[in-house]
Amino acid sequence: MKIGVIGIGNIGGTLARKLSAAGHEVRVANSKGRESVLAFAKEIGAKAEDTKGAVEGADLVILSIPFPAITSLPKDIFDGLPGHAPIIDTGNYYPGMRDPQITAIDQGQSESVWVSEQLGRPVIKAFNNILAYSLASLGSPEGAADRLAVAVAGDNAAAKKIVMGLVNELGFDPVDAGSLEESWRQQPCTPVYCCDWNAEQTLEALSLAVKGQATQTRDRLWDQLMALGLNPAHAQIVASNRKANAPA
Ligand SMILES: NC(=O)c1ccc[n+]([C@@H]2O[C@H](COP(=O)([O-])OP(=O)(O)OC[C@H]3O[C@@H](n4cnc5c(N)ncnc54)[C@H](OP(=O)(O)O)[C@@H]3O)[C@@H](O)[C@H]2O)c1
Repeated sequence: MKIGVIGIGNIGGTLARKLSAAGHEVRVANSKGRESVLAFAKEIGAKAEDTKGAVEGADLVILSIPFPAITSLPKDIFDGLPGHAPIIDTGNYYPGMRDPQITAIDQGQSESVWVSEQLGRPVIKAFNNILAYSLASLGSPEGAADRLAVAVAGDNAAAKKIVMGLVNELGFDPVDAGSLEESWRQQPCTPVYCCDWNAEQTLEALSLAVKGQATQTRDRLWDQLMALGLNPAHAQIVASNRKANAPA
């Protein structure tokens, strides 16, 4: 597939690397223009572009930029993107810690519904509930015991099917998490969030989410991270997330 990746940090960069290694035609971009992504593109065997160039004529787009940056994307960024091409939103909203307050989300709007409204295009929410380390290093072949899972939410069945196929190709069990409206179930600090669950556990965790509850856990996240000390091991982070997000 021709895949445009906007944002090549922890998540976008990891996805771009894995997708390029898997044989996809990957184009990468950030906010600073083509020159600034040349070295990374060369390293992973992708093409460096600006944001519009990464998206033009793509079969699929991955948007993996800080949450508030959504509003600073060029207004015409998706003009050259075919209507059927899925746009994956990996974003998470961290008001106070990293992001400015967004009233609509604070009042209960699902984060990816807000993203979709800003873009004026439907999105599929995926790869938001997996840690960058897990994404980079803990994938496994289909059928492997205790294979980790990634929740995928969205309204367009065809687009969701493509994204679920990609999740599988990248080494994770895709779990259908329902509509974009329902995607609050996989937002920060819900039971399914960054806990390295398998598919069965992911389904259960999605069903255990209680609307509004995760924001309270999220607002204690800074203290949770501080308690881990400097350079915690991945296993410590996951154990801490499980304790905070899915105590049962
Ligand atoms: N880190 C994780 O484990 C994790 C897990 C799941 C989901 N997420 C979510 O996924 C999103 C990305 O996270 P991340 O950790 O990968 O972030 P990151 O490491 O900070 O990378 C962000 C990338 O976006 C680019 N960018 C920033 N503003 C941009 C703009 N206006 N236009 C185009 N590119 C822009 C940045 O490059 P320039 O600044 O140079 O433009 C950078 O390449 C966030 O919403 C995050 O919460 C993160």
